[in-house]
Formats: sequence, C-alpha cells, structure tokens
Amino acid sequence: MSTLQNDLYLRALLREPTERTPIWMMRQAGRYLPEYREVRKQAGDFMALCKNAELACEVTLQPLRRFPLDAAILFSDILTIPDAMGLGLYFEAGEGPKFERPVRDLAAISKLGVPDPEQELGYVMNAVRTIRRELNGKVPLIGFSGSPWTLATYMVEGGSTKNFSQVKKLMFAEPQAMHMLLDKLAQSVTSYLNAQIAAGAQAVMIFDTWGGVLSPRDYREFSLRYMQQIVQGLTREADGRRVPVTLFTKNGGAWLPEMAATGADALGVDWTTDMGTARALVQDKVALQGNMDPSMLYASPARIEEEVATILASYGHGTGHVFNLGHGIHPEVDPEHAGAFIEAVHKLSPAYHR
Ligand code: CP3
Repeated sequence: MSTLQNDLYLRALLREPTERTPIWMMRQAGRYLPEYREVRKQAGDFMALCKNAELACEVTLQPLRRFPLDAAILFSDILTIPDAMGLGLYFEAGEGPKFERPVRDLAAISKLGVPDPEQELGYVMNAVRTIRRELNGKVPLIGFSGSPWTLATYMVEGGSTKNFSQVKKLMFAEPQAMHMLLDKLAQSVTSYLNAQIAAGAQAVMIFDTWGGVLSPRDYREFSLRYMQQIVQGLTREADGRRVPVTLFTKNGGAWLPEMAATGADALGVDWTTDMGTARALVQDKVALQGNMDPSMLYASPARIEEEVATILASYGHGTGHVFNLGHGIHPEVDPEHAGAFIEAVHKLSPAYHR
C-alpha cells in the first residue's frame, strides 16, 4: 500500500495539527457535474453505475480532477444493504429510491437475513479496491453506510417519505418488531463497514439523515443506541493507522454531546447549529465536520467566500475541523461555485492553524 500524499483529512479527524482545514463535499460525485451526467447516461440506471467498479471509480475520481479536495468518497448508496436483504431497490426517474417489497410487520422482519458483504455486496468491495488502487495515495478514501434508523425509514415506508407514518407506526405500535429490524441492520452495517475497511476504506461515515425527526428519547432508543453498537464493533485500525469514524445526524445539533459519547472520532454538523456552538458542546472530545448550507452555493463566489470566513471564525483556532457542506450538494449548483467554495477554504483557513 502506498503512503498517503495528503492526510490532512485523517489528521483533522484525529485532532492532530494540520497546516489548513481540510475539505470535501457531501455528494461531491453527482449530477451537478456534467461529466457525471455523461457517465450516468452510459451506465443506464443509477444502480448499474454503482455495480460497475470501473465506472463507480471513474465518477468517484471526477470531482478530484476538478477541485483540490482532501478526500474521496466511495460512489455507492446507503440503500445497498436493504437491496441485498432482498427488498428490490429501484429508482423511478425524478422520484428517488423505491422498494418493491417494503417490510411492515414482524413476519417480514423475521425473515430478513444479515447480508454477507463479500457475497451479496461484493460489487461495493470491488469498487473500494478499484478506487483505492486508482487513487494511488493521493487522498484518503471514505467508506460509508446509512444508520439503522435511516435505512429502516426507507425499508418500512418503501421509499422517501414526508411524515414517516409507516415507520413511526411500527416504532410505536410494535416496538419489539422495530428493535428486531434495527438490530439486524446494526449487524449488517457493522460487517458491511468492516468489509469496506478491509477492502481499503481509510475512514468511514454513518449517515443518519432522518434521526432528526425523532424526539430526544426516541432518538436515543431507536437511532443513537444502534449507531453506538456499530461504532463499538468496527475495526479501528488498518495499515498501521487509525480508521476514524464520523457520525452525522441531520438536525441532531442538540444531541452532539451524547453522540460524542459513543466513541466516534468525529461528528457531522448541519447549518442549523453554529460550528462554535457545536465545538463548545463537544469540548474538543471529537472532531467536527461541516457546515455550510448547500444552498449558499447558489450565491456569488464573493458571498460564498464571506460565508466560509464566518464558519472558520465560528469554529475558531486549532485542529479538529473538517470543512464540508451541512448536507449534500444540490444538482443545480454551478461547478464553478463549488470551486470557489473549496478555494476559499484553502485561502482563508491557514490563519486558523498558526
Ligand atoms: O457523496 C458522494 O459523492 C457519494 C455518493 C452517495 C450517494 N448517496 C450517491 C447518490 C452517498 C454518500 C449517498 C448517501 C445517501 N443516499 C443518503 C445519505 C446522505 C444524504 O444525502 O442524506 C441517502 C438518504 C441516500 C438515499 C438516496 N439515494 C436518495 C434519497 C436518492 C435520490 C436523491 C436525489 O437527489 O434524487 C439517492 C440516489 C443517489 N445516490 C444519487 C447519487 C449521486 C442520484 C442518482 C442519480 O444519478 O440519478
């Protein structure tokens, strides 16, 4: 394995000194890039792109050719696990993900197995190995998964949802069935992430996109607890280096101290919490990733730079900050504005590390 030429991202996650604040963007490979849309057209549907290691590698590398980013993220999706469990994932144009066979009761949940990552999800591991080889030590590769709760919302609802009726009905009316589902998912996510680490992922991130729709008590019982179970089951070292784990609960600002107590190395923060507030809440116990509103990329490059300055000042001096958007980049964003965002972090952040 070649040594890393740029390890700013890994050092910041472990709160080791860096010369500047590292940056990557959630959903950095995607539809805002014309070169992505081109490859996506060639591949046919989105899952065909995920299942082709060469093409998944190509789109992973596309944003790194354009911009001086400090990490690559595996091109895949969080819904690969439920797909491997047999729910039949498909994407309807303009409507997001759907499942042919949602699970709504104890009988359906009892039948679910824990997928073997090198078998049913072997295409993901092939993509990880291919990307690691092609990156050739340029920047670290991030592996990822959804949180059990977030995966469960899609599995029970059968797709995206506005009010979470079906999944909350199961959670409140049949809590034991819900816990059985979440436990199977926690086991699946643990072995899936460990397989990604064995295949070459140098850091991992757990996306809890929908944890923020729960009450604090339900968040603890139905989301955080299972993420903690996963964190405790992960391989934390590979190639003689620590493999950092980042947890991201969207809209989870109030729960950062509890999230920091799981043993994760870093937490993602969205734009509804200021970085300075977040830092005060976690007391330098963990690193923080975030947190510009992705819609700010619609503004002028000058306005974007101003916002980057505000966020850097909010976090303040010292290590432990990985710059990012507070959620995924929107498909309508002009790539030049994304470039201005990244450039502003390169230009303004060294002052915070002297
Ligand atoms: O960040 C990256 O560049 C890596 C790739 C990545 C994708 N999905 C590719 C993708 C990652 C990290 C994800 C995670 C993911 N997927 C999450 C958690 C993060 C978040 O955004 O909250 C969730 C909730 C999903 C589920 C999912 N997959 C949805 C809701 C959609 C539709 C989104 C949309 O905007 O239409 C997808 C499809 C998807 N996953 C696309 C991409 C690039 C768009 C597919 C296309 O090309 O048509």
